[in-house]
Amino acid sequence: MEFGGVMDTDRVMGVALEQAGLEAVPADSGIHVPGAGLKKALFGVDIDVGELLYARDSGYDVVVAHHPLGSGSSPQFTDVMWRQVDQMVEEGVAEPVARAAVAQRVGSRHRLRHMANYNRVTDTARLIGLPLLNIHLPPDIVSRRYVKRLVAENISEETTVGGLLEVLNAIPEMARSLVKPEQWIGDPDNPVGRVAVAMAGGTNGGYPVYSTYFEAGVGTILSMHIDEGDYQRLRTEAPAGCNLVVTGHMPSDSIGINRLIWRLEDEGLACQRTSGIIDVPRSQNGV
Ligand SMILES: [Fe+2]
Ligand SMILES: [Fe+2]
Repeated sequence: MEFGGVMDTDRVMGVALEQAGLEAVPADSGIHVPGAGLKKALFGVDIDVGELLYARDSGYDVVVAHHPLGSGSSPQFTDVMWRQVDQMVEEGVAEPVARAAVAQRVGSRHRLRHMANYNRVTDTARLIGLPLLNIHLPPDIVSRRYVKRLVAENISEETTVGGLLEVLNAIPEMARSLVKPEQWIGDPDNPVGRVAVAMAGGTNGGYPVYSTYFEAGVGTILSMHIDEGDYQRLRTEAPAGCNLVVTGHMPSDSIGINRLIWRLEDEGLACQRTSGIIDVPRSQNGV
């Protein structure tokens, strides 16, 4: 075990990449202000200037955001969304069809990101000399892995959506969350059928991706969140028996972030949670 003073921002990112099985820093993540000799880290789902000033005043050595900042939030962020194509192919969607659906969503996200003041928070971190990184895709991969495994071990195609919700609600992060997994399309008595865990794709796939899943015979989509316009359209057009379960944004993100924090604590980094991370007792089996 390593203790204080040996961690730098490369190592923090490296631990996240290793845990997620990634070999390079994804486009939605980045080391924005590098630093070394790190002992105390402040983690948040979203980091704004307020959290940076708090971190400086309270003696933190580094701030780790989940949601993209700086280069991680630029229009290139959409590069990671193409991972959704692989997830769709796994569920039996033909690759060209998957590509076309993801392309629609990438286009709308690109235009939205194009408008953003992407360097606002990273600029302040640079001015006050506070190491800052954001790690987005890696913990989302860990959240997805966790939920997929839970579904594989506890749910069959005949399980009702109500039964699936019971399993999801028992996840410690969900149990402690104010927002709970909810079914937004379909009936709780519907069998789940084939379940697609549509997470770790940069952002949700929205109408183009989710309607394609339903067309390919997926019975239930699990999503962290969905935009209102996409939801209204999907709800109107979803085939009978199809289900959408929204697992909740903060608890779903917290699953992966907590597991990253536990790994970093093993390496001697003291971690404090803020900005929406739902803290839970460390799981014994490490997953
Ligand atoms: Fe996330
Ligand atoms: Fe998120």
